[in-house]
Amino acid sequence: MDINVKLKPQSERGSLPSDDNQLGFGRIFTDHMFVVDYHEGKWKNARIMPFGPFSLSPASLVLHYGQEIFEGMKAFRQENKKDVSFFRPEKNAKRMVDSAIRLDMEPFPEEHFLTGLNKLVNIERDWVPNSHGTSLYLRPTLIATESVLGLKSSSDYRFYIILSPVGPYFSEGFKPIKIYVEPSYVRAVHGGIGEAKTGGNYAASLLALKKARASGCSQVLWLDAKEHKYIEEVGTMNQFFVMDDIIYTAPTDGTVLKGVTRESVLQLAKDQGYKVKEEYLAIDQVIDGIKNGALSEAFGAGTAASIAPVGELRYKEKVYQINNNRVGPISEKLYELLTGIQYGRIKDEYGWNVLVKDD
Ligand SMILES: Cc1ncc(COP(=O)(O)O)c(C=O)c1O
Repeated sequence: MDINVKLKPQSERGSLPSDDNQLGFGRIFTDHMFVVDYHEGKWKNARIMPFGPFSLSPASLVLHYGQEIFEGMKAFRQENKKDVSFFRPEKNAKRMVDSAIRLDMEPFPEEHFLTGLNKLVNIERDWVPNSHGTSLYLRPTLIATESVLGLKSSSDYRFYIILSPVGPYFSEGFKPIKIYVEPSYVRAVHGGIGEAKTGGNYAASLLALKKARASGCSQVLWLDAKEHKYIEEVGTMNQFFVMDDIIYTAPTDGTVLKGVTRESVLQLAKDQGYKVKEEYLAIDQVIDGIKNGALSEAFGAGTAASIAPVGELRYKEKVYQINNNRVGPISEKLYELLTGIQYGRIKDEYGWNVLVKDD
């Protein structure tokens, strides 16, 4: 794939805020983006160009039927302050192909995804912030651009990657968050699109998120669509519980996103000698566990937040505190290991970090 590079003049480029505390999450964008179009059966015109608005037909299929998918991943400034590494980027490239297939879109080839991403991030190296808990968030996106109102799969697509320097996802930092258990709305059904990373899943979640925020919680914990009983995942994270010293998370059997962090946490936990089970827990089991002391910790895991300890569940007007609203030892250990590898503080025995190469 040839990539045509057209950079902004140096004098027009932006820079990181002087204080990393001003980064927030996903509000600041770097100077350039990677864009490539699919037309007449071919990916064409791969380019790196200044970040800015697109011109799209108002009839584009993405705007009417939501044919779109995306990824969320990060590049981390390493301990030596010079190198920058991706974390398991091939997993996101592959998941994006799987999402494309589910939404009947033209998948963007994995090797081109990784090449375009490396070239863009290499150009934008100076945008990777330095301090602990910060990173460069990477947002590959695929949208349906054919201009037609009849319901069909698009014949034309645009794939693009934009980059945003970010601080911690939750303003709390690495402190316990509050989670709202949604009793009636659902996120995903078996046979649906829950496993795909597509905008529709997040659009469907917003009304419940508003309820969660109104009750002082940061995210929604989703229950299964059939019985409103089994715990699936949180808004932007896979959910874990420690019950009777076993680490539980829901299986990925169609409704839950196959999180890269989830897979990494399961591996780290097993290698630390913890017992892990990919099994459904019922919300009543979790509440009983909180009451009788069997449930010692809960945490969410995802790219945006890495590991977020959960200190409180709100379910049907009742509040349940977990571990006295303190960070538990297993959450802390897994957080230290995961972020230690990501920032290069701990030796990466797994080959998960992929250095951004000069090219
Ligand atoms: C619904 C949902 N579940 C889980 C995750 C965690 O996935 P990952 O670890 O790949 O970021 C995310 C975040 O991307 C998500 O949006």
